[in-house]
Amino acid sequence: MNQPLSIEVAHRLDVKTRLKIVLGKIASFVFQRRCSQLSANPVSCPTGFVDKALMRYLKHRAVLIDDEQFFERLHHDFWKGAGGQVFSSKYDHRFEDLFLARQGEDFRALQNLWNQSSVDQIVEFGCNSGLVLNYLTQQLADVRTATGIEINQQQVDENLASEAFDPRINFECADAGGWLLEHGKANTLFVTNGGVMEYFRRERLNEMLQFISAELKPALFFSVEPFAADHDWSKNTDSIPFGVELSFSHNYQDLFESNGFEIVHQRPIIFEEWWLMATVARSK
Ligand SMILES: C[S@@+](CC[C@H](N)C(=O)[O-])C[C@H]1O[C@@H](n2cnc3c(N)ncnc32)[C@H](O)[C@@H]1O
Repeated sequence: MNQPLSIEVAHRLDVKTRLKIVLGKIASFVFQRRCSQLSANPVSCPTGFVDKALMRYLKHRAVLIDDEQFFERLHHDFWKGAGGQVFSSKYDHRFEDLFLARQGEDFRALQNLWNQSSVDQIVEFGCNSGLVLNYLTQQLADVRTATGIEINQQQVDENLASEAFDPRINFECADAGGWLLEHGKANTLFVTNGGVMEYFRRERLNEMLQFISAELKPALFFSVEPFAADHDWSKNTDSIPFGVELSFSHNYQDLFESNGFEIVHQRPIIFEEWWLMATVARSK
């Protein structure tokens, strides 16, 4: 059985990792300028001994001092580059094996809410290869337009070149937060699936969700996001780096409820090493 991703994993340091962190700390004194550069612009796939050692140390330091902005910049770098490009070839099977096979109940809850609302367009943040967006566009009644916002340019170019998508769908390469504040419209279903909000720090998510619930209502939200198996939401509303990627485990109950949404349906799903929370919510 797969070990679930946890906060504890982010703190677990074997002897080899400890040694790398010590080397990184030494390197941070010797290569101070490079260390400051990497701290300001972290690279997710460092090359060369010095950068690798410095990045290992900087990631460890960011966990200890709770530097959310460092992690957000690191995730940005990963998804804009090779990480985003190869994701679909490794994980598109989750559309069949997880979304279609295991999440019918969550989709039906969304469908019920959609049918009772005036919402008629979809925006998916972090849509990657667009499989879920295409499904929602074709299965929900009378969708007028659908937009996939994706930070990886190569993936967006592939989507735009493909003829497999419903003609109501468009794709744009942008950071989801920036795009929303500039182009978001009322009467929209916002979607994040398979882990997208986990790459945003809590402060930015608060800003995005408050903007939607205050300025763009009526609005619906459908999200399926991983969280740490050892994150007790009844006691802790903090957003905490977890797992090997050091993405954020957010408290998705508190996130939606404290930012002007009513949760209509929320259900955990365990799939391989991920504990995911499916949420269907509407602006109050
Ligand atoms: C874990 S993948 C999930 C992909 C897809 N939703 C799925 O379920 O297969 C995260 C996706 O979010 C995108 N992403 C990450 N940060 C983003 C940002 N700031 N703005 C837009 N997209 C982002 C990544 O490029 C990637 O495609």
